[in-house]
Order: sequence, then C-alpha cells, then structure tokens
Amino acid sequence: MTRYPSVGTAAVRLIAALALALAGAAAGATAGANAQETVSQLVQRSFDTAAAQYGGMLDKVQRKPGFPRTVEKGEVVLVGVGDWTAGFFPGSLWYLYEATGDAKWRLAAADYTARTAPAKFDKSQHDLGFMLGAGYGNGYRLTGDPAYRDALLAGATTLVTRFNPKVGSIQSWDLWKNSTWAFPVIVDNLMNLELLTWAARTAVEPRYREIAVTHADTTLRNHFRPDGSSFHLVDYDPQTGKIRSRVTVQGNADASSWARGQAWALYGYTMMYRETKQEDYLAQAHKIAAFFMHHPRLPADKVPYWDFDDASIPNAPRDSSAAAIVASSLLELAGFSNAEQARAYHTFAEAQLRSLASPAYLASGGEGGDNNGNFLLKHATGHKPAGKEIDVPLNYADYYFLEALLRLKGTQAGR
Ligand code: GLY
Repeated sequence: MTRYPSVGTAAVRLIAALALALAGAAAGATAGANAQETVSQLVQRSFDTAAAQYGGMLDKVQRKPGFPRTVEKGEVVLVGVGDWTAGFFPGSLWYLYEATGDAKWRLAAADYTARTAPAKFDKSQHDLGFMLGAGYGNGYRLTGDPAYRDALLAGATTLVTRFNPKVGSIQSWDLWKNSTWAFPVIVDNLMNLELLTWAARTAVEPRYREIAVTHADTTLRNHFRPDGSSFHLVDYDPQTGKIRSRVTVQGNADASSWARGQAWALYGYTMMYRETKQEDYLAQAHKIAAFFMHHPRLPADKVPYWDFDDASIPNAPRDSSAAAIVASSLLELAGFSNAEQARAYHTFAEAQLRSLASPAYLASGGEGGDNNGNFLLKHATGHKPAGKEIDVPLNYADYYFLEALLRLKGTQAGR
C-alpha cells in the first residue's frame, strides 16, 4: 500500500524483488538520456533535485497561506485547502522525508499536513482520498501518530456521506448551477477508495469496505470500453441508478481516451486488487495497462500526449502526470503478476521514469532559467478543454513521480 500502513504478502514482495532484479539486468537496454545510470543513481539524483527544488519552494511559500499547485505566468499558484490537489505538496514532503530521513522534511511535511485538516469535514467533494491520503496517510505510515489516523477516519466518515446505494457509487461533483447532470461519477474517483478500505480495517467498519467495493464494481461495469479504455464521466439517475450519459470534461471528446483518466483507472484497480484480492479488478488493471503500454500513439519516451485521441498529435501537449501515475501503478501491478508480465511492467515503468528524470522533463534543480517554479516535472497538462494548466508543472505529477521512484528502488514500506 502506498499511502496508509498496509498489509502485504511475502509472495508479492518476492515477485516484486525478482522483477526488480530482472529489470535491473535489462536496464542497459532502456532508452533515455540517462541509460547508464543505475536505478539507485537515478533515484538518488532525482531526490537530490527534489530536495533542491522543494527546499527553494519552502523558502518561497512557507510563510504564506495555501499549497503550491502549479505555475502561471512565472509565479507559483497557491491554492486553498478546498482544492483537490492540496494534499500533494505535503505528500511529496513526506516522500522526501522517507527517502532522506532528514528531520527538516518531516517538520515541513507535518506543518503542511496540519494545514489540510479542514478537508476531513468537507462534504462538498469526493476528493478526500487525494486531499488526506497523501499528507495524513503518508504521515501516519511514516510516524504512527494516532492524530493522523483519527483525521483519516474522520475523512472516511465524511466521504461515505456521498454514497448513493441506488447508484452504487460515491457522487464525484456537486451539481453546478448550469449542469445537466444528476449524479456525476468520474473515473478519478477510484483513487479515493483506498481511504475507505483502510478505514474499514482500522475502525473495524465493514460498511466502508462495502461502499468501496460497490463503487469499484459499478465503475467496472459502466466506465469501460471493450478495449480497456475508460470514459471520463458517467452520469446516473440517483433515483433508479440508470445511466443517463457517458461524457468527458477533461478529455478531448466523449469517446476519447484522456491520458490521466486511464492512469487513475490503472492505479485504482491495481490498488483495489491489493485491498480486496478480487480477480476482476486485477484483470481490469492488466487490460488498462495493455491499452496504455501498446497504444500506437504513445510516444517513444512513454510519456503520453494529454489525450490519446487529440487530432493534433504529434503536436499535442504531453502529460507527465499521467506518465508518473502509470509508472507508479505498474510497479505495484508487477508485484501481482507472473514473472514475464512483471518484467514487462517493470521495464516499462523504469523507462518512463528515466524519461521523466531526463532534462526533457525534470527541472535542473538550479536557480537559473530551468527552475520550473521550484516544481520537479515539466510538461504536465491539467485541464486542456478549459484552456487551463497546459504544459506546466503540477504538484500531483511530482508526487506520483517521487512515489514511483521509491517503488522502483523498492524501499517504500508496505508495497
Ligand atoms: N482529478 C482531477 C484530475 O485528474 O485532473
């Protein structure tokens, strides 16, 4: 498990270690600017860059309210605690603490985690798994502080208020004034379920697990196309549970494959397999992985365009956040796979991380022109249809990049 203290079997760890060894042997054949670096050098260099960038970020923002999310017109954009990305900055600080053991990161992480506290009572959105998991979840995993556990449990109690048993899902967004939807559920919502499966175990509250499983089952039935790709949003009738429409908000078109949506789905079903051992979740994760890895429009560096179906490919913007999420997912999925599949997933994820850690994507770590607003990764895309956050740094790209590096190194607890 990534964000919360976890269970894990010896067999899964053995397969993951075997895959890591095999992938390491194949590393010389991996494409990328840093093909000669060992995995350990790659991880070390990336965390050195992270320490320089995030150290500079803290100097810049720590005395101000808000959480760094992206860069606009050369300035870091700080968002409030109600923003779905608020937890990623504290989450990255926890990963820096995990990688270095340096108490200064722990102090900064604890400070920023505490700032996300109001999210635990926020009933207005579904993103509490992101908002609390990255900060409080990692904080609890790394420190065992019971106050962190209590905040997570409060967040889970808040999140389940959005569950509708007729639909079998947690509602993603509240209805906007001009919205034609009745009960929108986006594929991203799978990412919030880990908060519930963890809370079910921790508080011995089986209902939370039932809600998570029901949501994952409903999404499995209704969000996916035969090729394993996912729609972004399914709208339901809250009285009958019938599907009203399948559309996109952040993708190129209703029928297109928005890259980050595929990444959330891959991560979500890999995580839900770990949590439940339900075979249909594992099968779906493999299917999504195959769709992504073998897509004819996936660039050679394995960092996808923001949407696989943008007609302007190869001139469309990339999304480094989707690549980071996929790399992290595949490294976990490898642990649930046979040796051949595990090797393929490891090799692919490592290639993605070598691309992301190359100068094409990773900030130089200096104060010069490539400072990247003190974020790590360049070339992420947040919401292209809205004309927002196109080809920019994003806090969640950094967070999943660091998580994937820890997984690659094989040090992250509970993997
Ligand atoms: N969950 C929102 C996004 O991926 O942009």
